[in-house]
Amino acid sequence: MPKTRVLTGDTPTGRLHLGHYVGSLQNRLAMQDEHECYFLLANMHAFTTRADQPADIRADTIEIVKDWLAIGIDPQRSTIVLQTEVPAIAELTWFFAMLLPFNRVMRNPTLKTEIDAKGLGDQYSFGFPMYAVGQCADILAFRPEWVPVGEDQVAHIEMTREVARRFNQLYCAVSSHAEDADHEKLGGLFPVPKAKVGTVGRLVGTDGKQKMSKSLDNAIFLSDTAKQVKKKIGQMYPGQSRDPDQPGDPDINPVFEYAAIFIDDKARVAELRDRYRRGDNLGDGHVKGEVIEAVNALLEPMRQRRAEYENHDDHVIEIIRRGTARANEVAEETLHLAKKAMSLDFGARSLTWK
Ligand code: TRP
Repeated sequence: MPKTRVLTGDTPTGRLHLGHYVGSLQNRLAMQDEHECYFLLANMHAFTTRADQPADIRADTIEIVKDWLAIGIDPQRSTIVLQTEVPAIAELTWFFAMLLPFNRVMRNPTLKTEIDAKGLGDQYSFGFPMYAVGQCADILAFRPEWVPVGEDQVAHIEMTREVARRFNQLYCAVSSHAEDADHEKLGGLFPVPKAKVGTVGRLVGTDGKQKMSKSLDNAIFLSDTAKQVKKKIGQMYPGQSRDPDQPGDPDINPVFEYAAIFIDDKARVAELRDRYRRGDNLGDGHVKGEVIEAVNALLEPMRQRRAEYENHDDHVIEIIRRGTARANEVAEETLHLAKKAMSLDFGARSLTWK
């Protein structure tokens, strides 16, 4: 049995944090063994809002690969793909743009949220909404079954599923009544891929209020030192003021959200919650201490792996090149088959990237 394919990616915007880890990175790691995994560096997408910062985008791209390698993405088993060097993605984007009504793209809730969050108003580039169509091509170029993502990306995967169905119906004679799972069996080129959302959809930031995010300055980065982690968690507001021997409410204390996620011993978490609730001589400092220890235990092996690449951008670039060469073989095959289905088979092209 060939392994099922998985594709996901990140836009290089800076270092990855714990929110990314529990929202989607952890999921990817778990999939590396049983699936054929493709991890995409969406550097083209970075240009949709930062076209004036090419050098920063390059640095962020390299930084993300270091984060991936640090968490345990293994370039021997998984393929790292640089979006801007896979021309099939750009070509498919054009064709897919014709399969989506303009208003359908503009109604995409994730795009709307981003426009609000980044305060873009009506001043965004033409390429900005285009990235959502591009994302359909990122995914379908690899014809994956699964797309592990955070909750915020589900709207994009839904659009990708629509494109896959539409393409298969228009160009591969798949019936509009076909079940999603049957599309390939019925001659469709594309599977209708499924989102796989991480266990924690939304991780609260160290401000205890908003979603963890680099731009809100409330993030614990995967590359933070043990000291930085201690400081960031140590300064968190526990949601209430209380004495260790006074009853408290763990449910309004964001530190307990971290405890539930990062302390592996769930019986210990239950005990801490119970003692906190009863005011059984359990201070906030103690709870934080256990959470700090747990987070640092998770990050320590990552720090060690990261150190191997820290001053070796050349190694990182070599990993990107090798992965992208392999990715082009798959994406070119998809493009070739797509063109054939669209009566565009005027001659096969061979493309390699050295
Ligand atoms: N838009 C995604 C993000 O910002 C990154 C991304 C680009 C992606 N292409 C993708 C994710 C394809 C999954 C599949 O996080």
